[in-house]
Amino acid sequence: MNPSLANFMLARTPKKILHPTPTMTTELRLNTGNSIPALGLGTWQSAPGEVKKAVIHAIEAGYRHIDCAFCYQNEDEVGEALQDVLSRGIVKREELFITSKLWCTFHTRVDEGLQKSLDLLKLDYLDLYLMHWPVPMNPNGNHPLFPKLADGSRDIDHSTNHVETWLRLEKLAQAPKSKVKAIGVANYSVKYLEKLLAKATVVPAVNQIENHPYLPQQEVVDFCNEKGIHVTAYSPFGSTGSPMFKEEGVVEVANKHNVGPGTVLLSYHLARNSSVLAKSVTPSRIDENRKLIALDDSDVEKLEGIHKAKGLTRFVYPPFGVNCGFPDKPDGIDLSG
Ligand SMILES: NC(=O)c1ccc[n+]([C@@H]2O[C@H](COP(=O)([O-])OP(=O)(O)OC[C@H]3O[C@@H](n4cnc5c(N)ncnc54)[C@H](OP(=O)(O)O)[C@@H]3O)[C@@H](O)[C@H]2O)c1
Repeated sequence: MNPSLANFMLARTPKKILHPTPTMTTELRLNTGNSIPALGLGTWQSAPGEVKKAVIHAIEAGYRHIDCAFCYQNEDEVGEALQDVLSRGIVKREELFITSKLWCTFHTRVDEGLQKSLDLLKLDYLDLYLMHWPVPMNPNGNHPLFPKLADGSRDIDHSTNHVETWLRLEKLAQAPKSKVKAIGVANYSVKYLEKLLAKATVVPAVNQIENHPYLPQQEVVDFCNEKGIHVTAYSPFGSTGSPMFKEEGVVEVANKHNVGPGTVLLSYHLARNSSVLAKSVTPSRIDENRKLIALDDSDVEKLEGIHKAKGLTRFVYPPFGVNCGFPDKPDGIDLSG
């Protein structure tokens, strides 16, 4: 088409067609042919006694995507919540997108890891099963989840590696009557993805990574886009206690659109074609976080300016640092790539 005619038509195309307003159930395509709803409810650090209510409230409020993990030690309560909404007919199983994750001490026991999560969640299949970290840990150490050596360092299982774990996950996904619809990874840098892709026959459907204006990880997002790996952003608010809600650039964009800063922090990922996980156990926040808007290029540029101005290049709130006692480079294993 003649470029001036194209520009003429573009200038007259309504904004809502060029940038449709995303909703929490906007379907984003995965390389499996299935899709993932744009917004998921996070469940990390959702305490027992709170998480069941939170998941029920979220599903009643229209959430269809729930992010779980064996390591969060609350999948039993999430399972009770799922059973509750399914048995009351609030939603059908096939309308939900449920993710769980293979924990590090299960890298050599992927079938067992999956079955444990399925039993706790009271489900017969998962929509997505992720390798939680590319770090195999001793399955027979002094702790079932966080084994340590006598000197206090992490008990890494050096007899295997994350690429071998991926090949085991591929078998799990390709088995007849497989109980996983898609497999993927989490916390993968470009370097780790390159190592995995060199041996993989199945390209991960998803790479779930820490992602927010303090840590946009643009090189990982670009690499994933190029390889057909969908990115899911975790800790979009910077996790518990983060100052990001008050960050000047975030507040500016929020004021421009007359929305709260949380809406901007979540919508940022939709503008990058990623899905996003927001954790809350507070009903009013679970409701508030449903609101997503279409950000324009200047908004995204402003949000990306934040990390450039601050010069942040590493994990801000390393979840292993908070929860699992891992720094971002656990025991000499370079996760930053
Ligand atoms: N793959 C991985 O290794 C990995 C690592 C970390 C996280 N994740 C996943 O990603 C999810 C989200 O990340 P995250 O839990 O680290 O952090 P997050 O969602 O960025 O932040 C959660 C914190 O923000 C608060 N909050 C939620 N909505 C709010 C609102 N509208 N206004 C003010 N505060 C609000 C929550 O408080 P209340 O709950 O008290 O309301 C909680 O303290 C996790 O739950 C987990 O499912 C995955």
